[in-house]
Amino acid sequence: VSEPFSMVIFGATGDLAKRKLFPALFSLYMNKLLPPTFRIIGVGRRPRTHEQFREAVRKSVDEFSRIKVADEASWQQFIKNFTYTVADVTNPADYEGIKSLIEGFETEHGVEPCRLFYLAVAPDLFATVSHNLKAIGLGDTRGVKRLIIEKPIGNDFLSAKEIDEQIKQTFTEKEIYRIDHYLGKEMVQNINVIRFANSIFEPLWNHHHIACVQITASETVGVEERAAYYDRAGALRDMVQNHMLQMLMMVCMEPPSRLKTEAIHDEKIKVLRSLRQYTEEEAGAYVVRGQYQAGILNGKAVPAYRDEKNVDSASETETFVAAKLYVDNLRWAGVPFYIRTGKRMGAKATEIVIQFKEMPKNLYFNKNNDLGPNLLVITINPDEGIHMVLNAKKPGSDNQIMPIAMEFCNNCEQGTPEAYESLIHDAIVGDQTFFTHWEEVALAWEFIDPIRRAWDRNLHKLHFYESGTWGPASAHALLAEEGHHWWPVT
Ligand code: BG6
Repeated sequence: VSEPFSMVIFGATGDLAKRKLFPALFSLYMNKLLPPTFRIIGVGRRPRTHEQFREAVRKSVDEFSRIKVADEASWQQFIKNFTYTVADVTNPADYEGIKSLIEGFETEHGVEPCRLFYLAVAPDLFATVSHNLKAIGLGDTRGVKRLIIEKPIGNDFLSAKEIDEQIKQTFTEKEIYRIDHYLGKEMVQNINVIRFANSIFEPLWNHHHIACVQITASETVGVEERAAYYDRAGALRDMVQNHMLQMLMMVCMEPPSRLKTEAIHDEKIKVLRSLRQYTEEEAGAYVVRGQYQAGILNGKAVPAYRDEKNVDSASETETFVAAKLYVDNLRWAGVPFYIRTGKRMGAKATEIVIQFKEMPKNLYFNKNNDLGPNLLVITINPDEGIHMVLNAKKPGSDNQIMPIAMEFCNNCEQGTPEAYESLIHDAIVGDQTFFTHWEEVALAWEFIDPIRRAWDRNLHKLHFYESGTWGPASAHALLAEEGHHWWPVT
């Protein structure tokens, strides 16, 4: 449990606060992971009394929290720490109210400043808010201050760099907590543990023994209410630049010298430095873009992307990306990393499959007259766990082989923390390990930018796929070229 802190949530009447932040704070509180003294200051454009704000927090907890309110007394203990102030974040004068609430809390409790500024607002406001915080004198007080921001940071390398330079006029790299919520997921954090706490994997974790790696993040939802953002962003910016590359880094990184934030960030950054960059022309051979068409999902007819509300009827935005990536270092030379992500696919699933190389000689065969490879499957969402696919004797047969699975389920017996719970907790205690370093953001954009440019120039075809399927045919061809195929999600 940390020292007393205050957290200012900009965008406190917005969707992220409602769905994720308030429930996460409540779960942390119920798990005794918050200090006895803290203050949450909600900031929004809409006028609210403290009471109205507290009622909205209660609604959000009732609807979205994995831990429910059990008794009124503990709810009152929790909610009394919430206050609200109305502010137009572009108006410097409006920061007076925020400042006096923070200072009021610190004086009232006689605590040292430990101030967290959570920007749950549109990214084009990041620079304005941090500039105004500095102007009002909240940028250079003694004590601890931290800035928490969400993706997307910019829409290409240059715009990201500009935002970064602007916020760094107020906050240093060590004070900036860039959220990639995939890094808060239990099983993403578990990748390092599985790799570095088990002597059986590390010796095999390289190009000598691994045939390919597949990373899938599929969704069944469509664009929902987010067309204004999504139709400009597309899946490449929305998922690949951040979540998919983060999972790749976790799988590929070298063991850190110590379990320290800098050591882990260093190793992750090196992965991106080794990631093979594709030119605009090359992108066509390695990256597939797709867009969903109408189809049937879970027994319900769903419209084509171009027919969704607020989407341009001629939109070329990709709702699906598959790619074949290479990490050109000694460990991974020649191993294809296949990634795929998309909306309106066959199932909601995030998982990583490590496919091991075949035996040098087959003594045994399965019914297809071959021997299936060993797989290590890390399931991240909605099931959390790992399973290994091995070959074993089919009961009753002489020497016929069948695949068997050894399974561990991480969230079957009890619920595990939501990504936002662990990330908010880490930000409160000052642990940056599972946040994104600026260099990761920068290198990821440098990889993405030529692909994006190629698509903007329409250099490579947009492929369509029926909703409820696993993407366009070309996403399968990408693997078939190497004699591989996508493993169905489990
Ligand atoms: C977000 C994207 O970052 O991640 C969304 O902006 C996407 O488009 C979401 O739906 C997926 O997250 P999760 O945790 O549901 O896999």
